[in-house]
Amino acid sequence: MHLYLDSASLDDVKKAHDLGVLDGVTTNPSLIAKEGVPYAKRLEEICRVCKGPVSAEVIATDYEGMLREGREHIKIASNIVVKLPSTIDGVRACKALADQGVKTNMTLCFQSLQALMVAKAGAFLVSPFIGRLDDIGQDGMGLIREIKTIYTNYGLKTKILAASVRHTNHLLHCALLGADVATCPLKVITDCMKHPLTDKGIEIFLADYKKAFGGQ
Ligand code: E4P
Repeated sequence: MHLYLDSASLDDVKKAHDLGVLDGVTTNPSLIAKEGVPYAKRLEEICRVCKGPVSAEVIATDYEGMLREGREHIKIASNIVVKLPSTIDGVRACKALADQGVKTNMTLCFQSLQALMVAKAGAFLVSPFIGRLDDIGQDGMGLIREIKTIYTNYGLKTKILAASVRHTNHLLHCALLGADVATCPLKVITDCMKHPLTDKGIEIFLADYKKAFGGQ
């Protein structure tokens, strides 16, 4: 499973990149707003660090506006993926961009039929939002399962990018279900390498060694 960082923080991108596990980055307008820097400038900075797909979301909600913004975004770097909402205008824009060889990430996917539509329109990635479905008492992981089944049934090539990942349990189940990619905050990525028994084990090994040989 590929692992993307869901952040517009350059610091976080550098940290995830330094871990050696970063395959791509996803951003969105809320994440950029938190950073308080111009979107294009930050995307350029992120693309200098991460050579994998970097999703740049459009602000426009109409077809023409999405195409206009998408075409601006792809001028920033060759690894930019245009992120579009999974709406009627979004699916049309997806098709138009895909026909021109532009990669898209169809975001805000909350039902499997949205995923079917965007795959038919040639999306490179679809982003089902697990956490936000769980938040309203629905089954986020069930959505990943359904999309996986539909894409397998028809040999659809769009990659499933599990989004709105809140904790390592989400990540684990995405991997078990065969999501192609998961995007998550830096904390979820670093939490993957944490276990109290690992810390305890190091403590015991060092104490035993010190007892036998002294010093460090
Ligand atoms: C994905 O591309 C989105 O940016 C993101 O995963 C949304 O996550 P949230 O629900 O935690 O805001």
